[in-house]
Amino acid sequence: MSRRNLARVLGGSAASLCLPHTASATLLNAPAPDPSPARTFPQGFLWGSATASYQVEGAIHEGGRGTSIWDTFSHTPGKTFNGDTGDVADDFYHLYPKDIELMKSLGVKTFRFSVAWTRIFPNGTGAPNQQGVDFYRRMIEALLAKGIQPFCTLYHWDLPQTLQDKGGWENRDTAKAFADYAGYTAGKLSDLVSHFMTMNEMSTFVELGYGTGTHAPGLKVGQKRLAQLNHYVVLGHGMSVQAIRAQTRPGTKIGIADNITATTPVIESPEHIAATRKAFREENAMFLTVVEEGRYTDQYLKRLGPDAPKFTAEEMKTIASPMDFVGVNIYTPTYVRADNSEKGYAVVTPPKSYPHMYSSWLNIGPEALYWGPKLIHETWNVKELYITENGASSKDEVAPDGEIYDTDRVMYLRNYLTQLHRGVSEGIPVKGYFLWSLLDNYEWADGYEKRFGITYVDFKTQKRTPKLSAKFYKDVIAKNEVL
Ligand code: NOJ
Repeated sequence: MSRRNLARVLGGSAASLCLPHTASATLLNAPAPDPSPARTFPQGFLWGSATASYQVEGAIHEGGRGTSIWDTFSHTPGKTFNGDTGDVADDFYHLYPKDIELMKSLGVKTFRFSVAWTRIFPNGTGAPNQQGVDFYRRMIEALLAKGIQPFCTLYHWDLPQTLQDKGGWENRDTAKAFADYAGYTAGKLSDLVSHFMTMNEMSTFVELGYGTGTHAPGLKVGQKRLAQLNHYVVLGHGMSVQAIRAQTRPGTKIGIADNITATTPVIESPEHIAATRKAFREENAMFLTVVEEGRYTDQYLKRLGPDAPKFTAEEMKTIASPMDFVGVNIYTPTYVRADNSEKGYAVVTPPKSYPHMYSSWLNIGPEALYWGPKLIHETWNVKELYITENGASSKDEVAPDGEIYDTDRVMYLRNYLTQLHRGVSEGIPVKGYFLWSLLDNYEWADGYEKRFGITYVDFKTQKRTPKLSAKFYKDVIAKNEVL
């Protein structure tokens, strides 16, 4: 290292350094730190953006689409902010060519979208609707024409209402119906799509849909029924992995988009890290752990006692049908500390003053994007990982000059991507990152109040305006690095 560089690193002029001779000599002999602060990602890293059918498509009565539980729920008075519905949303059904142009202009290399089950099977099962298949094929072809790689999710919460009328995920037949729909749809798209994800965020649609009732279908079924339907959900995932495998081209990659509980050590010291590893398997016991291991953990079954789900050995094998990659949606950390309890860890509830984004659940903890993928990779030796969602809600406002200066979202993204880079540079095999979301869209029970887009949408005119965060992301993609 030159004296000038040494001075820069230590924050003073080399001439004025008051170091004993030996210390100065040691420092001068130390290996030079990388002079560039650039955090470069591996070549070919897939920078993407993500959306989901009900949140962007609109056109709920077009193309032969059937009714989903979100149509019913959002039209039930008092269920969503302001009574907002996804009837029109971003009108992506009609405006997708423009949105694909937008992706292209940002340099986005891959796009994660979901298929609305009721566009393919309007009644959940029975005769397929060719118009639905045609819509997705048109949209995917438009992506490919711009060199953008499609990643397709088969279930992003919009269950056909006809299936809910027969018990929804409480009915084991729904798992079979899902596998049939997923296999059929993937088969119809397989010549265009190489990566399919079965389900998005199992815990959210289980716990909010049937536990707290704050999402569709709005039920509160109690612990025992919840554990059983949770079992049918993971079973549906496993059955659909097999169905997709059977009906797609060889080489097709099948995964999931799961919102793991991203256990994160309160402090990165050995005892808290060890506790975090234990917590990781247990806190994800009924979702990614059972999907990866084909068994419920002893602690999980013990905790539920008589409310534990009924299952067969055959079902457990199906649940763990091998996947080719794991996608994870990570927004926020779950802090863990070492503890002398039987579990060996404790989850730490952050103080009320903990900083969060505009959504009150969205605590800011960039290290989650380091620990989440690291623990998945180390625990189950997963070799292909994607961040299938990460992003931030904001109370965006249009400035007098027409721009949207979402400095809070830029701050969030810069810090999270820095931690993602930390993991990737250690060799954690994260191959791509999907920013949630390309557009402001229908944020479920929060309606249009909480904006997650890097593109501002005026929902009256459908005008799109890229925000400051879009410019930030464009730069990240172009340089393949985060600064
Ligand atoms: C996860 C969900 O998959 C997506 O639908 C939602 O909009 C974002 N998180 C933000 O809450």
